[in-house]
Amino acid sequence: MATLTEDFLREFEEVVDSLPRPLLDRLLRLKRYRGHRGDDRLSHCIKTAYLAWKWAPKLRIPRRPALLAGLLHDIGYGIPGCPLCRLDPGGHCGICHWRTGAKLLAEQGVRRDVVKAVKRHMFPYSPPPRTRLDLLVWLADKIESTLSFLGKRVLDNTTLRRCRELIDVKSAGEPPVQSSSETARTRSE
Ligand SMILES: [Fe+2]
Ligand SMILES: [Fe+2]
Repeated sequence: MATLTEDFLREFEEVVDSLPRPLLDRLLRLKRYRGHRGDDRLSHCIKTAYLAWKWAPKLRIPRRPALLAGLLHDIGYGIPGCPLCRLDPGGHCGICHWRTGAKLLAEQGVRRDVVKAVKRHMFPYSPPPRTRLDLLVWLADKIESTLSFLGKRVLDNTTLRRCRELIDVKSAGEPPVQSSSETARTRSE
């Protein structure tokens, strides 16, 4: 019988396979930004995706959008979107990334419930959670941050490393980046 983390890895791979190149590129860039206790922002997103995926059935939410929203929730890091970003050109501004991330995801055709969960994950800076998915992502993000800050393990290192490798491999094997208008055109064809 497959373990919980094996099930997660299988679904994680399917989600990563479904992501357009601009989102894979953005996920890779999250390696540049701090997470907690030596983590980078990409590891934080993978662990948040794991918690959201694991807890989704308790809130009667399908696991796939929970995983997707958890993985993409901080994807707006490093996209300038507010005056404070000018004070931190390294892209660490944590105030506006919910807005820049949600905008990018909407442009890339990501499902609306996931876009909204990303837009509402930074309450009280962002709009408040309204749906069960919003609440799940908001909670998973805060709990992952707290556990990692306290040095508690959320996901074993082997699974975390495998998830990071899947993103590396998928982004290396993709065709050149399309602009968002080209991507939109491709989707409508
Ligand atoms: Fe965030
Ligand atoms: Fe986060």
